[in-house]
Amino acid sequence: MPIAFDAQSRTFHLRNAQVSYLMRVLENGTLGHLYFGGALSAKGSYAHVSSREFLGFDNRLGEPIPLEYPTAGIGDQRVPALVVRQPDGATVLDLRYASHRTFQGKPAIPGLPSTYVQAHEEAETVEILLTDTPANLEVRLYYTIFADRPVVSRSARIRSVHRVPQAVLCAMSASLDLPDADWRLVSLSGAWARERQIVERQLEPGCQSVGSRHGASGHQHNPLLILRRETTTEEHGEAYGLSLVYSGNFLAEAEVDAYGTSRARLGINPDGFAWTLDPGLEFCTPEAILVYSGEGLGSLADAFHALYRDRLARGVWRDAPRPVVINNWEATYYDFDEQKLLAIASSAAELGIELFVLDDGWFGQRDSDNSSLGDWTANLAKLPGGIEGLARQIEALGLRFGIWIEPEMVSQRSRLFAEHADWAVGVPARPRTQGRNQLVLDMSRSDVVQYLFGTLSDLLGRAPISYVKWDMNRTITEPYGGTLPPDRQGEFFHRYMLGLYELYDRLTRAFPQVLFESCAGGGGRFDPGMLAFAPQTWTSDQTDAVERLKIQWGTSLAYPVSSMAAHVSAVPNHQVGRITPLSTRAATAFFGVLGYELDPTALTPDERAQVAEQVAYYKERRELFQRGRFVRLRSPFEGDGNETAWMAVSPDRRRAVAGHYRALNRPNLGPSRLRLRGLDAAASYRVSTWPAGEDAVAAANAGLRGGDELMRIGLLVSPEDPTEARRLGDFTARLFDLEAV
Ligand code: DGJ
Repeated sequence: MPIAFDAQSRTFHLRNAQVSYLMRVLENGTLGHLYFGGALSAKGSYAHVSSREFLGFDNRLGEPIPLEYPTAGIGDQRVPALVVRQPDGATVLDLRYASHRTFQGKPAIPGLPSTYVQAHEEAETVEILLTDTPANLEVRLYYTIFADRPVVSRSARIRSVHRVPQAVLCAMSASLDLPDADWRLVSLSGAWARERQIVERQLEPGCQSVGSRHGASGHQHNPLLILRRETTTEEHGEAYGLSLVYSGNFLAEAEVDAYGTSRARLGINPDGFAWTLDPGLEFCTPEAILVYSGEGLGSLADAFHALYRDRLARGVWRDAPRPVVINNWEATYYDFDEQKLLAIASSAAELGIELFVLDDGWFGQRDSDNSSLGDWTANLAKLPGGIEGLARQIEALGLRFGIWIEPEMVSQRSRLFAEHADWAVGVPARPRTQGRNQLVLDMSRSDVVQYLFGTLSDLLGRAPISYVKWDMNRTITEPYGGTLPPDRQGEFFHRYMLGLYELYDRLTRAFPQVLFESCAGGGGRFDPGMLAFAPQTWTSDQTDAVERLKIQWGTSLAYPVSSMAAHVSAVPNHQVGRITPLSTRAATAFFGVLGYELDPTALTPDERAQVAEQVAYYKERRELFQRGRFVRLRSPFEGDGNETAWMAVSPDRRRAVAGHYRALNRPNLGPSRLRLRGLDAAASYRVSTWPAGEDAVAAANAGLRGGDELMRIGLLVSPEDPTEARRLGDFTARLFDLEAV
């Protein structure tokens, strides 16, 4: 039984073989947090963990009593989870336990994406009702423990039973108190084309946070907070991961108090947020996923990957092999016509590529980024047969057809704007800030959502479209909901997300066979909220292999390989001008959902042969790359960052591919070795290298090797002969194929 309640000590124990989560109704009725970490025995009450005869905060102001859902104004001076402005203007809240119920399974959250179970036995949930009598407020906390994952899911619902409205000013999805502050905070931070780099800092007294305030989870930070011990590695040591299933403004924060304890909180960013709670109505927070690992960051990632791949992504594309795509963006940008596209597609089909994606520029009068967003009808000057005509011709070539859209946007030069200028987000009396020459549609309006559903359904219904790349190229400025009253403008950003999720939900239900890929100027909205609708995301506009190693490594801290679209592009690279070998670009993109984003008609015969071989190589191992266990071996964020290595291992450990990458060649490397992980120590593996070649490294590793040897001694990754080492050059990659015999 994963959730036990000891009535005498009023202690909840959520437990499986991997983790325990303990909380207790304290003497004064508040809900105290006792523990979250490695599994504890089911015996015993653990009530003594909150050792003092706790009498509330009456006598011990500011002392760190761990609380499950802390509120402001009653003596806990740390950051709160909940702030509600009541009709008398006060924000003081003191939540007391009222009741609880446990049940099998996991409830959905109205209007919001969340993880799910397929069978009730996969998880158990406890709903705990806390109330504040003077405020006439009810708070329901939901905790779900999965039967066989080191995961606890949390969310909260806040309901007013007052006669008059009150305002929720802060409602976190989770708050987690830890008894010490000896943690390093790991965040995924960066910028456009440099997303999700690993940034670490030691927790210090006070608050440290990352977040977003511009309407999307963002390029700058990811809604993820990891705490690890100084000594934690990929394989050993403790780590917590808190991840928010949400795509809008978020806050991920850790506070260290005067007593050296720490509190992490994660949820919608309270900055700029205020939600009017009408009598009887409920506000639901997004879901927070809490993972604990006692075996390093690798196990933490394993848990996130499996959960997000198998119980957050949904629909037929959750488990189906993802197609290898050719995308015309970097091949043509806006400069194309039907003939050019068909030449690209037919050339790609000859190489074994499976799906053609028509990117930006196919609609309205769009020849640059300064017009036509919103006018989702084909530009007949470019595509005389319209989308339908092009899609049918692409299908006749043996490829499936996919299309780019950016539904949340409108250009000022567009028919849509001429007809509905009021649909663009903005404050009536102020100029609107342009970003990429475009404005954002007000997704908090139901008429906008309804209109977009109609328009996009029409597009998807008219032509054989198998794939949609849903882009979002600017963030929100002058936030203001056109249909919201002045006192409810603090709801705008969240209502935007609710509208966006509704649209995604309706479209993915109406077109279940379509594979959706989310995108936001590259990886500006790579988050679990999007993955609930679009099982893969365009990882970054950065297609350079060296930069991609870092981006994909960072992303893999929480997100599975099946969620990372990764394309091979032309050189010199369009983002950084770097020239890397074609094999290195492919070896990097293989550890993602593979695609090509170049003009295949411009390739030399030798390059074409290479690409055809790459596509065949990937397809033959597609299941392994897309759904195998991803094991990180050598970090581009450690040391001089010159080397990266990782591997994909099949669930039965009979097959694996390890990738080793070296940015710059260095003199006198010596015969360095790469130790693998996750193999069967007792098995023998046949080792071969890719790209195939007769060099000394390939020869030295070829043959049968024991799993124990591969994990303890490893593979040679630098030639022993200095003359050969000198010839290697920069930006090299090598894959090692392992097959148990
Ligand atoms: C940004 C995306 O990340 C690119 O891949 C491309 O689709 C452009 N937008 C098109 O405008």
